[in-house]
Amino acid sequence: SWTTGSVIEEQVAAIREQVGTKRAICGLSGGVDSAVAAALVQKAIGSQLTCVYVDHGLMRKGETEQVEKDFVAATGVQLKVVDAEERFLKALAGVSDPEEKRKIIGREFIRVFEQAQAEIIADAGPEVAFLVQGTLYPDVVESGGGTGTANIKSHHNVGGLPEDLEFQLIEPLRKLFKDEVRMVGQELGLPDEIVQRQPFPGPGLGIRIVGEVTKERLDLLREADAVAREELTAAGLDRDIWQCPVVLLADVRSVGVQGDGRTYGHPIVLRPVSSEDAMTADWSRLPYDVLAKISTRITNEVADVNRVVLDVTSKPPGTIEWE
Ligand code: XMP
Repeated sequence: SWTTGSVIEEQVAAIREQVGTKRAICGLSGGVDSAVAAALVQKAIGSQLTCVYVDHGLMRKGETEQVEKDFVAATGVQLKVVDAEERFLKALAGVSDPEEKRKIIGREFIRVFEQAQAEIIADAGPEVAFLVQGTLYPDVVESGGGTGTANIKSHHNVGGLPEDLEFQLIEPLRKLFKDEVRMVGQELGLPDEIVQRQPFPGPGLGIRIVGEVTKERLDLLREADAVAREELTAAGLDRDIWQCPVVLLADVRSVGVQGDGRTYGHPIVLRPVSSEDAMTADWSRLPYDVLAKISTRITNEVADVNRVVLDVTSKPPGTIEWE
């Protein structure tokens, strides 16, 4: 019968057998799947695993620290953090189109990650043969069930690598559904903030700023998002909500009045939704007093924001994210 304990035992044995004395690399995104996959592999092979976290500067408040401190403390994993904020901001400068942003963030992410991989291989040698991925059962079904290998191409600016390096994949979550992954993560002692995390898009806050992405706007959005998350958690609503994007309309200004005078600030959009699988969604009927508290706090605490609006559109026709 299925128990988290038996799944862990089985996977740990299988991973040890697969890896032997070689080494593995795992990319951490801050999300549940990569965290649980990494924790499982860490339990199996310990210091033969190196994790990589690319900080693209588009995470929410406290999330990078959560990976750097809490995840490392809970697992003892060997972690390489790449601070790539400046690089991402430079690449995103002047870009407002959502798909263009996604393309740039995806491209830069792969470049930075491969560079980190190459550095680890340069240090450790050719015994780095495995790449850990947090593939879940629904992903396996969706992609037709294939498994196997991943290629990285060596870049001209990285010396000493074979032309075309092939990794074997370790996918310890391939038979699990999301709720099972959370149970395994919990059993492995990962913090609740990681295990119970709601979905968050790979391009991060980069696609929650309608308009150009800048450091100032990111900092502002991080503050507003932190307030919303804090109040939703305090109200005990985390389990009822699928996710709640907080969006900055950076190119919109409206007139307001605050303290002694007139303001001309930006609106923040709250987009709380309920959903089963993100394919369709409905807007969450949040209690008015919770909405009021979030609105009051954001307009009081976040400079340059003088309005908070609620998105009451289902999906379809609206998507969950604004970009
Ligand atoms: P939409 O906005 O299409 O979002 O209704 C559906 C789900 O997907 C997430 N999302 C993304 N996740 N990269 C991701 O990894 C992306 O570019 C991306 N865009 C949307 C979104 O947060 C929601 O859970």
